[in-house]
Amino acid sequence: MKLQHSTGLTGTITVPGDKSVSHRAVMLGALSDGVTHVTGFLMGEDCLSTIDCFRKMGVQIEVGADHDVTVHGVGLHGLQKPSARLYTGNSGTTTRLISGILAGQPFATTLTGDASIEKRPMGRIIRPLREMGADITGVDDKFCPLSIGPGHLHGIAYTLPVASAQLKSAILLAGLYADGPTTVIEPAPSRDHTERMLRALGCRVDTDGCRITVYPPEKLTARDVAVPADISSAAFFLVAGAIVPGSCVTIQGVGVNPTRDGVLEVLRSMGADITLSNLRDDGEPICDITVRASALHGTEIGGALIPRLIDELPVLAVAAACAQGETVIRDAAELKVKESNRIAAMVTELTRAGADVTETDDGMVIRGGRPLHGAAFQTYHDHRIAMSMAVCALVCQGESEIADDGVVAISYPDFFDALRRLGG
Ligand code: S3P
Repeated sequence: MKLQHSTGLTGTITVPGDKSVSHRAVMLGALSDGVTHVTGFLMGEDCLSTIDCFRKMGVQIEVGADHDVTVHGVGLHGLQKPSARLYTGNSGTTTRLISGILAGQPFATTLTGDASIEKRPMGRIIRPLREMGADITGVDDKFCPLSIGPGHLHGIAYTLPVASAQLKSAILLAGLYADGPTTVIEPAPSRDHTERMLRALGCRVDTDGCRITVYPPEKLTARDVAVPADISSAAFFLVAGAIVPGSCVTIQGVGVNPTRDGVLEVLRSMGADITLSNLRDDGEPICDITVRASALHGTEIGGALIPRLIDELPVLAVAAACAQGETVIRDAAELKVKESNRIAAMVTELTRAGADVTETDDGMVIRGGRPLHGAAFQTYHDHRIAMSMAVCALVCQGESEIADDGVVAISYPDFFDALRRLGG
């Protein structure tokens, strides 16, 4: 894909459905009694992997036109043993959340994914699930493929070593099958879509600060899900609209759950002109967001903010490269174990464009304001690196090229079309 310097993005768009909510709608719909109609589902490869895994366990799932999905729930105890190993593709969310569910089943399964999944840390889910009584093993007790046998689960109280919603959710979902309540203690609040959806389906989930307790329910009762537009996908246009002079972009119906909206806080702290309108609530808070181009300045991003914008850090690094002054990103070592090492990837690619960036142990330091130039950017087969560098290309002088641009299909299949429609 070739990209040119942009003279301004203008218009109104709707970005695809939230990836985290789409995964959970299928998983919890499958475990519910009754039929779940999901609207606004993200038809990205990751969420299709989740559908595929549940179909292989006997769940009837219809994928209709226009992002509608219907899940015919089989109840908490209705999943069937798949005839082959389950394949989760590139999806960490599928792999980790489904492991929690599989730990409570009366049959054995093997779970595997692509080359990136086989490198991602799974010891973090193996340890607590084993503590609950699960029969789960992985390669060196750390990596996929995972083998999960039938186990009798009991409730535990577990302090997470990292603020990870995938890890939290894996334990809470296993907790549905435990013989007593299960408590997870987070170092900082991470996205709470699992807790919200479980409550909506009639399951008791108590939250007290960073302590979340799930009480094993007799059943989950199906309820339709309207998936909000994904703030993580909107983030590419928020940054593009802020840094490309002359831009004014509105993104409709974006999920602004307070555990996910750190990108708005940071962009505003950098001087971005962002307006929220039409705020409403449909299980998750949503609103329309308008961004106009403005001069940005450097900032500090760390601490409890990190889990609230973890997936937006690559594109925020692009914003920082265009801002006057220094931006420091710290406490973000988790970025090294995403679909790629996103710290190393962004430092290398921004440097290729002429930015002044230094890698640190848990983040990066970006001295912004240098003129950027077009280059042949690498994606590391990571959808968010591809889209972040596409945004960067809009402010680079000259032509840029994104190798392996098809990788955006993981979370945003129409990304380049949307960019073109806005004039990029
Ligand atoms: C997700 C949690 C985050 C995020 C990922 C989706 C989820 O991962 O990066 O894209 O849906 O729970 P971690 O839990 O590993 O931080």
